[in-house]
Amino acid sequence: MTEPLAWGRHYVAVEPTHFRVDYAINPFMDPAVQPDPALAMEQWQSMVATLRGLGARVDVVPQRPDAPDMVYAMNLGLALVRPTDPGSPAQRHVVMSHMRYAQRRMETGSAQAWFAAQGYATSYVGSEGVGAHLEAGDAFAFGDALVVGYGPRTEELALKHLAGDLGIRVRGLRITHPGMYHLDLAFCPLDERRAIVCPSALDDASARALMELVPEPLVLTEQEALTTFAANSVVVDRTIVMPACPPRVRAQLEAWGFEVVVVDVGEFHKGGGSIRCLTSPVDVTIGRDLPALARGEVVLPQL
Ligand code: ARG
Repeated sequence: MTEPLAWGRHYVAVEPTHFRVDYAINPFMDPAVQPDPALAMEQWQSMVATLRGLGARVDVVPQRPDAPDMVYAMNLGLALVRPTDPGSPAQRHVVMSHMRYAQRRMETGSAQAWFAAQGYATSYVGSEGVGAHLEAGDAFAFGDALVVGYGPRTEELALKHLAGDLGIRVRGLRITHPGMYHLDLAFCPLDERRAIVCPSALDDASARALMELVPEPLVLTEQEALTTFAANSVVVDRTIVMPACPPRVRAQLEAWGFEVVVVDVGEFHKGGGSIRCLTSPVDVTIGRDLPALARGEVVLPQL
């Protein structure tokens, strides 16, 4: 049996006390279609209760009243547990996002203060602090690398900074689909060999690279990814918490030995995000989940 992911048992989420659709920065958002605040809160609470029921820890960050998208905690920053000198405790570190759109930039300042108060070291990509746009919903540990989507949100330059700053291998995938503007809408690692993937989010070379990267992929059609948000799921050990699961997808997941739990977070689809976007894993470890390199390295697909 393939080993389960070693991460995905500790998350940060933002309580949706001020969730609204005030502007449109992705194709799902329409300020004329607002979420129901009470229903959104109920859906979020049942998602958090489900994760905790599976044994995951979920830490809750308060939402800034002026930051309606802050509920999508995945994008606040890329958290990694970093090795330190032998004998000293590992350091929790967050590379804060530098958001593409001005409407979300204030989120990271508040998140940075919260993470710092919890004892995390924080930084921004690039030595000057504003090196390049990075949105953490584009970055996932898988195999021998941090797999990072770039294009709509994260800039290619951020990949170089991440690899160099963290001493890891970064594999870049170029996102071209406007509806799958973050990698987490098209890629969900399931265990060490398997992942849900939607290659139609990417250009041809990156789609091929993604299929080569995942030994056993579960491929979603463009339609499935966009209408069900099925790739925007969270895995706790052998259980996949999904916003929806088409029968074909469920059959494959169950044949692989996973249990599927569906939690409706439909109100959050109005902002263009689902379960993965609402939760940020903070237990990916460099040296265990991500091999450390003496010097970082960026691998881009060749056309
Ligand atoms: N409205 C948010 C945005 O466009 C949605 C973010 C979804 N988050 C994600 N990790 N895909 O930035």
